[in-house]
Amino acid sequence: MTEVLHKRAYDTLLLGAEIVNQNGRAMADLAISGGKIAAIGALSGAKAADVIDCKGLTILPGVIDTQVHFREPGLTHKEDLETGSRAAVMGGVTAVFEMPNTNPNTTSAEALAAKVAIAHHRMHCDFAFFVGGTAENIEEIPMLEKLPGAAGIKVFIGSSTGNLLVEDDENLAKILKKITRRASFHCEDEARLRARMDLRVPGDPRSHPVWRDETAALLATQRLVTLARKLGKRVHVLHLSTGEEMEWLADHKDVASVEVTPHHLTLHAPDCYERLGTYAQMNPPVRGIEHQNKLWWGINQGIADILGSDHAPHTHEEKHHTYPASHSGMTGVQTLVPTMLNHVNAGRLTLERFVDLSSAGPARLFNIASKGRIAVGYDADLTVVDMKRRETITNKWIASKCGWTPYDGMAVTGWPVGTYSRGHRVMWQGELTGPGKGEAVRFGDALQPA
Ligand code: DOR
Repeated sequence: MTEVLHKRAYDTLLLGAEIVNQNGRAMADLAISGGKIAAIGALSGAKAADVIDCKGLTILPGVIDTQVHFREPGLTHKEDLETGSRAAVMGGVTAVFEMPNTNPNTTSAEALAAKVAIAHHRMHCDFAFFVGGTAENIEEIPMLEKLPGAAGIKVFIGSSTGNLLVEDDENLAKILKKITRRASFHCEDEARLRARMDLRVPGDPRSHPVWRDETAALLATQRLVTLARKLGKRVHVLHLSTGEEMEWLADHKDVASVEVTPHHLTLHAPDCYERLGTYAQMNPPVRGIEHQNKLWWGINQGIADILGSDHAPHTHEEKHHTYPASHSGMTGVQTLVPTMLNHVNAGRLTLERFVDLSSAGPARLFNIASKGRIAVGYDADLTVVDMKRRETITNKWIASKCGWTPYDGMAVTGWPVGTYSRGHRVMWQGELTGPGKGEAVRFGDALQPA
C-alpha cells in the first residue's frame, strides 16, 4: 500500500477497507477533509477527529441514482423529498436525479427553483432535478437545461404517471434542436399505446406488457435515436425493457446512452405478476425472461451505461385499484444497491462493473463535477458495503413513505452499511445519523459562477 505523507490532521479516517476505484480493487485507508477525499493509501499513523475501523468492509464511490420520482410538490401523500432521500441514503445512494412529473410539473425556471429551495439541506443526499420538455417550453430549453440544480431535460414520448407528453416527431425534433446537454427520454410509442388499449384485461396485470408491448418501446427508441442522429444530439434512453432495443442500440452508442433498472434485471413475467399482482405494474413493463437475459447481455457486453432505479412510489390504496386503474410504478431507490450486490455475489456482474454503472457511468454521461470516483479532490461521497452480509429485504426496512418494496422477503448477500455525503456520515449500520445536508449536484457543462 502506498505510504502517504501526512502533515495535518484529517476530519475522518476510514481504515482498513477494500477500496474499489479507477485503480481497481485494493486494501487501503481513506482520509476525508473539508468534505473532499484528501488521501488514499497507508494512513494508520495519521490523526483525525473521527477514526472508523472499516475492516471487512468495501468502499465504493457514492452510488448515483439518475432516475427517481420523489413526488414533491403536489403528490406528497406518496413520497416527499425528505422521505425519498432518507430511503436513498438508507440504501447507500449518495445522489439522485429526480423526475419532473410532480404537481406542478417541473417545466419552468420557477418550478425548478422552488424544488431546489425545498431540497437544500433538507434532503439527505445530493440532488438534481430534470426539467420536463414540452411543446410549450421549447424556446426556453437552452436556459432551463443549464439552471442551477438542473440535471437536463426529460421528455415522455409515451404517457405514464402525470400529463407530460411529447408524442410527435415534429415537437421532438424542435426540442432536440434546442438541447446542448444530454437529454433523457421515456420511450414508448403513444399512438401504439392508444391503439392497443383494449388489450388491457380488467383485473389482470399480466396484460400490462401485452398492451405496452415490445414494439411500442422499440418504435419510440428508434424514432428518437434516428432524429437525434439526424440533428447531431446526444440522447439517453431511460429504463430499457426489451432485448430488441438493447440489440438495436448496440449500433448507436455514439448518439444514445442506455439505462437499465434493477427491477428489469431481477423480476420477470409472468412470475412477477402472479406473485405481486399490480405491485409489479410499471412503465415500461417488466417482461419475459428472454428480455431479462438480453438486458444482462447488454450489461455484460458494455452496451448499458448506467443503472437507475426509476423509484416510483404509490400508496397501497393506489396499487389496490383494479387493473388498469391501479397506478404504475414501484419503489427502488433503497433496494438498488442490495439487489445489485446480490447479483454481483451470484456472479452476474463484477463489482467493478457495478461501480462503472452506478458511479463512473452517471458522472461520464451527465458530466457531473467532482463525483463518481474515489480520487483526491473529489467529493467524499462513499457507499460502504459489506459484501458478505446476508440480509432479508423487508417492507419494514423501507424508509419510503409508501412503505413497500416488490422485494419484500427476498434474501440477499451484500448490504449497504454506510453512506457518506460530502464527508458527512449520513447513514451508518442502518441508522440515519443527522438532519439532511443535501445540496445541488454541479455539472461540468453548466457550471455556475462562484
Ligand atoms: O411506472 C412508471 N411510473 N413509469 C414511469 O415512467 C413514471 C412512474 C411514475 O412516476 O409513477
